[in-house]
Parts: sequence; C-alpha cells; structure tokens
Amino acid sequence: MTLPEEPNLAIVGATGAVGRELMNLLIERRFAHGRLRLLASARSAGRLLPYCGTSLAVEELTERSFADIDLAFFSAGGAISRQYAPAAVEAGAIVIDNSSAFRMDDDVPLIVPEINGNGLARFSGPAIIANPNCSTIIALMAATPLHRAATVKRMVISTYQAASGAGAAWMAELQQQALDHAAGTPYTMRTTGRQLLFNVFSHNSPLGPEGYNEEEMKLLRETRKIWSDESVLISATCVRVPVLRAHSAAINLTFARPLDEQEAHRVLAEAPGLRVVDDRAANRFPEPIDADGKDDVLVGRIRSDISQAPGMGMDMFVSGDQLRKGAALNALQIAEMLP
Ligand code: A2P
Repeated sequence: MTLPEEPNLAIVGATGAVGRELMNLLIERRFAHGRLRLLASARSAGRLLPYCGTSLAVEELTERSFADIDLAFFSAGGAISRQYAPAAVEAGAIVIDNSSAFRMDDDVPLIVPEINGNGLARFSGPAIIANPNCSTIIALMAATPLHRAATVKRMVISTYQAASGAGAAWMAELQQQALDHAAGTPYTMRTTGRQLLFNVFSHNSPLGPEGYNEEEMKLLRETRKIWSDESVLISATCVRVPVLRAHSAAINLTFARPLDEQEAHRVLAEAPGLRVVDDRAANRFPEPIDADGKDDVLVGRIRSDISQAPGMGMDMFVSGDQLRKGAALNALQIAEMLP
C-alpha cells in the first residue's frame, strides 16, 4: 500500500500537547496533505484550533472517524489507541501510534528514522507503526552511533524528564505552581497531586515487581527491539524534574571494543539529528532550555569512563525536546518515510 500524494490525515488527541505540536510541525515541514481531521474526547467537540491561518473544529473520536482517512496519528494514551487504532486500520488507514499500546508487538515496527528507518522497507499498510517512548528516542539518538562503532554491552541511564511527557495538563500545572509561588499562595496540585516546582521525584508510572517503574522498563525493552539485540544490559532510573518540555539523560556505556574519546566525538558529530554541545572551557553542555523547541538532540559531557578499562566505557549527557524528537517530530519523520 502506498500513501496518496496528499493523504487525508487524522490526529487523535489533537487538543493534547503532542497533537498540537504535530499540527505545528505539519505546517513547518510543509507536509502535503488533503483533509485534516482533529479528534479528541467529547469534552473538546466543537472547539476551534488554529491551523494554517484558519481554524479547524475538533470532532469527537468514534469508531467511524476514519472512513476517508489515509494516515492517522494517535497521541491520546494507550487505552484510546488500543480501542480505536484497530478501527482506523480496518477503515484502511496507516496508524502511527505514539502510545505504548502496540510497541512490543512482533508485527508492529518500532521506529526511530535515523536509527532503524530501514525497518519500514518491509512495511505494507494498512497497519500500525509505533513511535518509541520519548526517553528511549532521545537516549538512543546519542547511544546508537556509539553502539555501531563499538557495540554497547551495557547501558546505565538516569533521566531528568520534563512535565510535557505527562501531557498538557502537567505543563499547565507546573506553570501554575510558578505563579502560585510568586503570589505566595498554596501550590495548585489538581492534576499532578504533587509539587513539581523546586522538586524532583521518581517517574509517575507504576512500579513492577523488580522495583523498576514502567518508564524504566520501556527503556530496556524498546532499546532491545530497536537495536535488534536481546543481549544488551540496561538499568534505568527515571525521574521528573521541573522542566517544561525537554528531557535530559545521563548515559553510561560499556563497550565490547575500545573507543576513545576523540573517536566518540567524531562519531557523534557526524550522526544525523544530533548536535554536540561540549565546551569544557566554558562549562557549557546540553541544557533542556537549549533543546526546547529544537529538532536536534543535544549531546555533551562526552568523556571516557575512568571506572572502566581504558576505552571500554563512555559517559555523556543528552537533552532533547520531548514533544518534538521525543514524540511528534519522530512520528512525522516516520510518515515522511512512507512510500
Ligand atoms: P481532550 O482534550 O478532549 O481531553 P495530553 O497528552 O496533552 O494530556 O493530551 C491527551 C489527548 O488525548 C487530548 O487531546 C485529549 O482530548 C485526548 N483524549 C483523552 N481522552 C480521550 C477520549 N476518551 N477520546 C478521545 N480523545 C481523548
């Protein structure tokens, strides 16, 4: 199946943080399309969203929403994807799903275009293509070039995750808490149930029996699938920080073959979608405020790990816009690759 030159599009979750970013990116990247159908819950039906100098009305998502749709982007959470993505496929659409619902299914490609975009060569829709977890995408943008150069045997990741990963309501509540602080009033915690401002805390996903939360296990399982390597060892600690929309991560790698710092710099500088920010003299390295609104993932603090045999380990720090490369941009790049 090939997409028409101007496919009809649907965005499920159009009123959400990722859906809105996707609309910006459709315009910014001049993605040719026919009809654009904006879908969300009944609460949003009739709401007007600005698009391309006009405004489009949001419709309530139903199983009949996909009748004339060629390509549907889903960003409304796993439960909605599980319930409605099969209906979209049934109606003849290709689904690019930002949720975790289908990522680990054997017949669903899990794609980061710069890393395993060739996995789409065998793809024939209508079917579902999964967008990986945002922290996985951002970490692997930097870890994969080094994996190709020296084979990563083990990866230890500590994340610093923005509010955007939990949706528009969390971003709004972080901003509200800043206003509350300035006004000297109690913190608003209606959505998040906790103080985000001036605080960090363990990721808000459920913990499994081993003591790892779901976000941490996604980093393990999704990396193995994207790298087609079930042997790579990964331990992650995922943490929320009071940042609006860019995730960061400290990444420690152990290699099968030695790779020196200079070579690591060269490999990372040449990798698509990455920008090296590594100025030791000025003490300037990736920061979420610099990644905010940018397509490239920033990588820096690149240094040989002195706790491992010479050349056998590397440390680095990444920051990437969670709504762009971590979600909407990656999804649109997948769409751009479709035949
Ligand atoms: P709505 O605004 O109508 O609730 P975010 O990730 O930023 O929280 O956004 C979640 C998106 O998922 C929103 O667009 C939201 O729409 C949408 N959504 C939530 N529940 C449903 C539902 N039952 N049916 C369709 N869309 C939903």
